[in-house]
Amino acid sequence: MKVNGTHYRTVWMENHTVQMIEQNRLPFTFSTVALATHTATAEAISNMTVRGAGAIGAAAGFAMAQGFFEQQGSPALPHAAKTTILATRPTAQNLFYAVEKVWAAGVKGGADAAVAEANFLADADADASRCIGEFGGALIADHANILTHCNAGWLAFVDYGTALSPIYHAHAAGKSPRVWVDETRPRGQGARLTAWELSQAGIACDIIADNAAAHFMARGEVDLIIVGADRIAANGDTANKIGTLERAICANHFNIPFYIAAPIATIDANCSNGNAIPIEERSADEVLWQQGIDQQGQNHTIRVAAEGVSARNPAFDVTPATLITGIITEQGIIAASDAGKTATHGSRSS
Ligand code: MRU
Repeated sequence: MKVNGTHYRTVWMENHTVQMIEQNRLPFTFSTVALATHTATAEAISNMTVRGAGAIGAAAGFAMAQGFFEQQGSPALPHAAKTTILATRPTAQNLFYAVEKVWAAGVKGGADAAVAEANFLADADADASRCIGEFGGALIADHANILTHCNAGWLAFVDYGTALSPIYHAHAAGKSPRVWVDETRPRGQGARLTAWELSQAGIACDIIADNAAAHFMARGEVDLIIVGADRIAANGDTANKIGTLERAICANHFNIPFYIAAPIATIDANCSNGNAIPIEERSADEVLWQQGIDQQGQNHTIRVAAEGVSARNPAFDVTPATLITGIITEQGIIAASDAGKTATHGSRSS
């Protein structure tokens, strides 16, 4: 995707250094960071410098490759690196998928093979997202009003994105979609990232407060909902950013098509149903404090609740397969109940 006319991927590797867009500073400042060690890359995953299932997966694959490069004289290092990377974030399946693939390549062929596999997986993520755009684009009528939650755009993957990729495709085909962007508290991925991405691409959008989505659905102002996924169980139950479940229940009530867009790498065939998906619980501070800039452009963190109150902060929820109209994958649109079968037949390797 282009930022101010220059093409960027979200995360990439140069020599043995991982480069990534610093997402915590968006939309106010666009910058990239260079991470020289697997420890630094793992920390960037934990602190959400890079976030979103596909981008996390690519970063984790590169971090695993760094672990093999740092090995000299320390044979146990790749294994320790693997443990560190796997502990960064628990829900996004793409992280586990990428680390296992790069680990297997490194054990078999050494550090160069690990880097080659990590690059292959990053390219495969971008390819899958592009194909998701083609299949999903066909669902979008001219002037359709589409609602999305969180950020499943190109920032959440290596390029193109998943939920936003069909919208980019439809726009490139001459259609004029309009997007309702849930702000997505507490981290604000919709307001901060999705709205920025869509604006960069010249696509019309409005940020809405999270609790306004049902209102617009009830008024007939939402034609279609497309969201991403962090992990899809074999039976099609899908973990995605907290708040997705509410959107799916409302969509069902108002008879609005509700699609998940995700690469096959997001399907965990070993996870039989949504109850088995680990749900990350993040710091209560993300609920109690908010970050932003003032009118002079200075960054601030402000408290938005009384001192001494407590908060809970589950980062994801699980939407049952029965509420999902279909899953848009790089191989076409599948029934949610076919997720496990599709993962077993459809995974790729270099
Ligand atoms: O916590 P995040 O920002 O890493 O959450 C991941 C997401 O961006 C969303 O859940 C998204 O909709 C899934 S697609 C990557």
